[in-house]
Amino acid sequence: MATVNDNYLKLKAGYLFPEIARRVTAFTEANPDAPVIKLGIGDVTEPLPQACRDAMIAAVNDMGDRDSFKGYGPEQGYLWLREAIAANDFKARGCDIDASEIFVSDGAKCDSGNILDIFGHDNTIAVTDPVYPVYVDTNVMAGNTGDADDSGKYGGLTYIPISADNDFMAAIPDTKVDLIYLCFPNNPTGATATKEQLQAWVDYARANGSIIFFDAAYEAFITDDSIPHSIFEIEGARDCAIEFRSFSKNAGFTGTRCAFTVVPKGLMGKAADGSDVELWKLWNRRQCTKFNGVSYVVQRGAEAVYSEAGQAQIKELIAFYLENAAIVREQLTAAGMEVFGGVNAPYVWVKAPAGLTSWDFFDKLLHNCNVVGTPGSGFGAAGEGYFRISAFNSRENVVEAMKRITDKFSV
Ligand code: MLT
Repeated sequence: MATVNDNYLKLKAGYLFPEIARRVTAFTEANPDAPVIKLGIGDVTEPLPQACRDAMIAAVNDMGDRDSFKGYGPEQGYLWLREAIAANDFKARGCDIDASEIFVSDGAKCDSGNILDIFGHDNTIAVTDPVYPVYVDTNVMAGNTGDADDSGKYGGLTYIPISADNDFMAAIPDTKVDLIYLCFPNNPTGATATKEQLQAWVDYARANGSIIFFDAAYEAFITDDSIPHSIFEIEGARDCAIEFRSFSKNAGFTGTRCAFTVVPKGLMGKAADGSDVELWKLWNRRQCTKFNGVSYVVQRGAEAVYSEAGQAQIKELIAFYLENAAIVREQLTAAGMEVFGGVNAPYVWVKAPAGLTSWDFFDKLLHNCNVVGTPGSGFGAAGEGYFRISAFNSRENVVEAMKRITDKFSV
């Protein structure tokens, strides 16, 4: 019989969001009339911007004409999209990033897992606690960890606690780690990082030969001009960072799928024989072998994000979700709960009331209020006692969900 990748057997229970979906399905099957409102997974609800739809329709028509039909595209993405990204997301913010360093893909989640293909298995790895579970689970699957202990922490990973006590900013380790995952604006806590804080991480990474995996999937929600959108706004980051970006949350592409990863040329890793190897070359090789690119139609839709109309439309979308986040913050604060995040981020991180555990609060909200959120403990042991509420939903649903929660839980 064929053997399996035993590392998968080390994974704790289900992946967080399918596990939530399983509990919600069980509840709705037992209570088919319950008007459930989902503020759990950060999945967008508002329609795609008109500019993106128009561009995609035109692209579909290109595919219907022999002269403009497209077969396989470049594995790295079409140059017109990569150039638009480089100009608007990087050069306009003073970042020295070239179109050739941008790899268009079908998701920041996929890329943040796939990137491990080009790294060795003997790296020391640091994650925050709580953390977006994909960073941990993909390292478990790749065999980069030991088993999980009773609190769910995997051997071989360095967990850096983030909490209200340290402003949700991971402390720089006093030992050397090779790979560091940072996510700002943060999923799940909604915290942001200042230039100075990121500079400290970049300085640490350069001093230790570490690589920072910087997940900036939520950068579009930053409204405070002093907060960096990209790690490449930080001096020296080209020598130590890879950045993941997405069109999912700014332009509503969660179902359409388009994202990109930035791997600067000249960023190096070490081979077993001690020689330096350019990571760009390895990632390019990996993508050419394992990936055939994002569809032409979707890339045209993503390109339209950078048009004048597209920019205006995504600003409206982001303002809409941020207003939802503000409503969540205000209502829960008024109900006596302690809330964090939700200002430059679409997630509000809430202390579960009355000393409830995260999953207890999840079950109470589901059963008593028919509202779904995400238990903080699902993001790591240090998330226990917290709860994440996503601002991605209609205004009507957010207002109704807050009313139901404050009616039941006001203290
Ligand atoms: C989340 O809810 O944390 C995100 O939707 C997950 C993701 O973007 O993959």
